[in-house]
Amino acid sequence: MKIIGTGSALPKKVVTNDMLTEFFDTSDEWIRTRTGIETRRIMTDESLLDLAITASRNAIEAAGLKAEDLDYIICSNVNNNYVYPSLSCMVQGAIGATCPCFDVRIACAGFVYAMDIAESFLTTGRAGKILVLAAEEPTRFCHWKQRETSVLFGDGAAAAVVEAGNEYMGARMTTISNTEVLYQRNRLEPTPFEVEGVYVDHPMVMLGREVFRMAVSNCSAEINHLLKSKGYQVSDVKYFILHQANMRIIKGIQQYLEGTDEQFPTTVQKYGNTSSASIPILLDELVRDNKIARGDLIVMSGFGSGFTTGSLLMKY
Ligand code: ACO
Repeated sequence: MKIIGTGSALPKKVVTNDMLTEFFDTSDEWIRTRTGIETRRIMTDESLLDLAITASRNAIEAAGLKAEDLDYIICSNVNNNYVYPSLSCMVQGAIGATCPCFDVRIACAGFVYAMDIAESFLTTGRAGKILVLAAEEPTRFCHWKQRETSVLFGDGAAAAVVEAGNEYMGARMTTISNTEVLYQRNRLEPTPFEVEGVYVDHPMVMLGREVFRMAVSNCSAEINHLLKSKGYQVSDVKYFILHQANMRIIKGIQQYLEGTDEQFPTTVQKYGNTSSASIPILLDELVRDNKIARGDLIVMSGFGSGFTTGSLLMKY
C-alpha cells in the first residue's frame, strides 16, 4: 500500500472552551488542564455528508485521480443522520464514483482498521485505487447536559487515497471485549412484544479514568510490539500519528515510548476528539504543511470503544 493523496474537511464554527460555559458548569481552565483542548469545530448548517464529500474530493484531487478511477470506498463512521444506507454509499453517489463501498464501525480506531483492510484488498489484487475515508460527528453522541463528555469532542472528516506499493510495513489490531467503559445505545423503535425496560436509549456512557488508563497502556504496548516485531526503534519513526482524544493520553504514550515532542504532532488542542477522523485529519495537516516527506516512517495508532486498538507502520 502507498498513500497517494490526502484531504480533510472541518466545520466552519469554532467553539471555544469559554463558549461551553454557557451550557454547563465548566471552565476553560478545567478543560485545558484535563484534556489540552482549547477549541473544537462543531457543525451548524453543514451535514456530515458535506464534510465527507469535501474531504473525499480533496483527497482524490491530491492523488491526481477522478472519482471514476476508484475501485473501492471504505468509510469509517459511527453515526450520521442515517442508519442505512451506509455513509460511503451516499458519498459514492455524490462524488460520481461507481465502485463498491462499505462502512466500518469500529469507533476511534476505525480509520486504521479501514487502512488495514485496504492493504489486504490491494495485496490480493481486488482493487487498484481505494478511497479510505473517516467521517464523524461525535458531538452528536453527547447529551449536551453532560459536561463530562460534551467538552471532549469535535466534528470532522478526512480521507486518504491508496494504491499498491511497498510502503506498508505491518499492523497490529487488537480487540479486548470491555464494552462497559465506553458505549452508547441505539434509539430503537418499540415493538408491541418487547418487555418493558429491555430497550432503553441512553446518552453516551464513558468511564473516563478507565478509558484513559486503557488508552495509554494498550496503545503504548501495541506500538512497542509492532515496532519491535519489524525491527524498528522509536527513534526511527518520524511521526506517531495518534488518535487525538486527549493531550494527556498522547503525552502518556509519548512518555512510555520515550519519544520527543516533534515525533508526536497534535491537533487535539484545535479540533478536540473527532473520533476516527482525527488520525487522517492530522495526517492531511502534516502533508499540507509540508512537514512530512516521502519515505518518512510513520505509525498511525487509534484506540477506542470496544476496547479496540489499531496500529499501522508504514512509510509516507
Ligand atoms: N468541567 C468541570 N468539571 C468537570 C467536567 C467539566 N467539563 N467534567 C467533569 N468534571 C468534574 C467531575 O464532575 C468530577 O467532579 P467531582 O470530583 O466533584 O466528582 C471531576 O471533574 C472529575 O475530575 P477528575 O477525576 O480529576 O477528572 P479526570 O482527571 O479523570 O479527567 C477526563 C476527566 C478528561 C474525562 C479524563 O478521565 C479523560 O480524558 N479520560 C479519557 C476519556 C476520553 O478521551 N474519551 C474520549 C472518547 S474515547 C476515545 O476517543 C478513545
